[in-house]
Formats: sequence, C-alpha cells, structure tokens
Amino acid sequence: MTPHTADKRLSNDGPNAEQIEYWNGDAGERWARYQDKLDGMLRPFSDALLQIGAVESGDRIMDIGCGCGATTFDLASRAGAGGRTIGVDISAPMIARARHRATALESTAEFMLADAATHAFAPGSFDLLASRFGIMFFRDQVSAFTHMRKALAPDGHIAFVCWRTMKENPWISIPLFAALPHIPKQEPAIPGAPGPFAFDDPDRFRGVLTDAGYKAIEIEPFDAELAVGGGADPLGDALQQTMDIGPLARIFKELNESQRARTLDAVREALAHHADAERVVMGGAVWLVTARA
Ligand SMILES: C[S@@+](CC[C@H](N)C(=O)[O-])C[C@H]1O[C@@H](n2cnc3c(N)ncnc32)[C@H](O)[C@@H]1O
Repeated sequence: MTPHTADKRLSNDGPNAEQIEYWNGDAGERWARYQDKLDGMLRPFSDALLQIGAVESGDRIMDIGCGCGATTFDLASRAGAGGRTIGVDISAPMIARARHRATALESTAEFMLADAATHAFAPGSFDLLASRFGIMFFRDQVSAFTHMRKALAPDGHIAFVCWRTMKENPWISIPLFAALPHIPKQEPAIPGAPGPFAFDDPDRFRGVLTDAGYKAIEIEPFDAELAVGGGADPLGDALQQTMDIGPLARIFKELNESQRARTLDAVREALAHHADAERVVMGGAVWLVTARA
C-alpha cells in the first residue's frame, strides 16, 4: 500500500460523509492546534493501548482514526525497523500535522488520508488494528468493523480504547452539566450513534464486534486522572480547552453572547472545584477492548 495514494480529497458521499465534513472543518483544525496538550492529557490511555496491543517487533499495524499521530509514533517504535505502522484518518488537517511531526521525530510511521470503514486495504495485510478514540464515528458499525477485519492477517488482533458513559467521565460531564441551565434544551443522545460515546455500552460493542466476525472479545474498564488545565493559569487553560474541544464546544459555537457569558461563568465555577495552583484534574473512564480476527 502506498500511503499517499488515497490523498485525493475524500469523497463526501460515502456512509461517513457527515464525519468527514466535521473532522475537516473547525474541529480538525482545533484538534491539530491542541495536539501537544491533548497528547499529554491522554497519555495514560496511550500507555494502556500499548499494553493491550502487545506489539511484536516486525508487526504490520494500522492506527485507525490516528489524528495527529501520537499513538502511531508509539506503535511504530515498538514494531521497529522490520515492522510497518500506518495511521489512517479522514481529517486532512490532522494528517498534515501527523506527517509534519513524523519528519521532526524521524519516525518510520506513515500516514494516509482515508476512511478506514471503506478504503480498499489489501486483504490480510495487518497484524494489529489499534485505536485510541478513533473507532466511534462510523455510521454503519458492523459493516465498518467487518471491512477492517478483512485487512487483518488470519492470526491478527485488535486493540481499542474508547470512552465509557458520560457520567463516568467527569472531565466531560462536570462542565456540560454546569452549562445545561444556560444553553438551549439538548436532544437526548441516540444510543450507539456516531460520536465519542458510541460504544459506552460494552454489551452493544461486543454485539457489533461479534456480528463483524471477531473472536475472543475482551472488554475491561480502565480509569485515569486527566489534567485538563495547567500552565500559568490552570483554570483559564481548562476553561479554554473545554470551550474549544469536545461536546460542549459544539454547543458553545451556537450560543448568543449573553448565553455564552452565563455558560462561561457556570463552567468556570464548576471547574474551580477541581483546580489547585498547578492543575485542573478530573477523572476519565474508558473501555480497553481486544479481540482476534
Ligand atoms: C477523537 S479523535 C482521536 C484522534 C487520535 N486517535 C487521538 O487519540 O488523539 C477521532 C479521530 O477519528 C477520526 N475518524 C473518524 N471517523 C473516521 C473514519 N471513518 N476513518 C478514519 N478516521 C476517522 C477523526 O478524523 C479523528 O481524527
């Protein structure tokens, strides 16, 4: 596979058109801008992914929804010179950032702009499909995971990290619940719909993977403390990030000026309960998922 062959503009008429538009707009630009900070904050989950991924020297690895490449670089260094690691993502700004970093880091990791749910990967060409938060955005989940399984060698395996419920993730629920009285009423999320919490229900995720033909599925909880704010003004830093990235950021963009002012006050107050002089720290909760082809 030549990583740059898919680097034409991604077609916006496939099943994941909405996500392609979203991750190539403002959201992708912001993620690329926050890359350094997010990689620090999400480090415990990268480490957990490396552990369950059990990479062997020489492995051929695909990092699905690789974003700016943090996990791709880690996986590539574990696979070593005899291996091959390719990060696949639909977001042009994030893939551009990942490639820039690969050069700076002198990493062997390669990057491809492609929809992992539909791209024509060579059958049996990977030993490991890995992902940190990049597998929750497919419109047709069973079809996507079936398609990707066919890219795995017969003895290949998968290792994924995805969020548990919003309630179990105070770093998201605390600011969002504080904002609720000041924002328009939100439609309840449709269970399993593409988005950060698509696989918060482990039984549902197990069902999707079973229907997609995976075996020996294991789903284990893992918790970590996340430093959402830091630097000279930890509270200001946490507030800025909360309004720029994630579920509240999407809503904040649509608010008028007075709603924005009230939301900012309420969220600042809620975050302050979790701040000290150096950091704003809240809990994060994920599923660690492994299975065989
Ligand atoms: C929450 S971000 C996580 C990025 C990165 N894995 C990380 O942990 O920093 C989700 C990523 O999945 C990518 N993505 C969503 N749907 C995708 C698809 N169908 N194929 C490839 N990437 C996809 C998005 O563009 C985005 O970069």
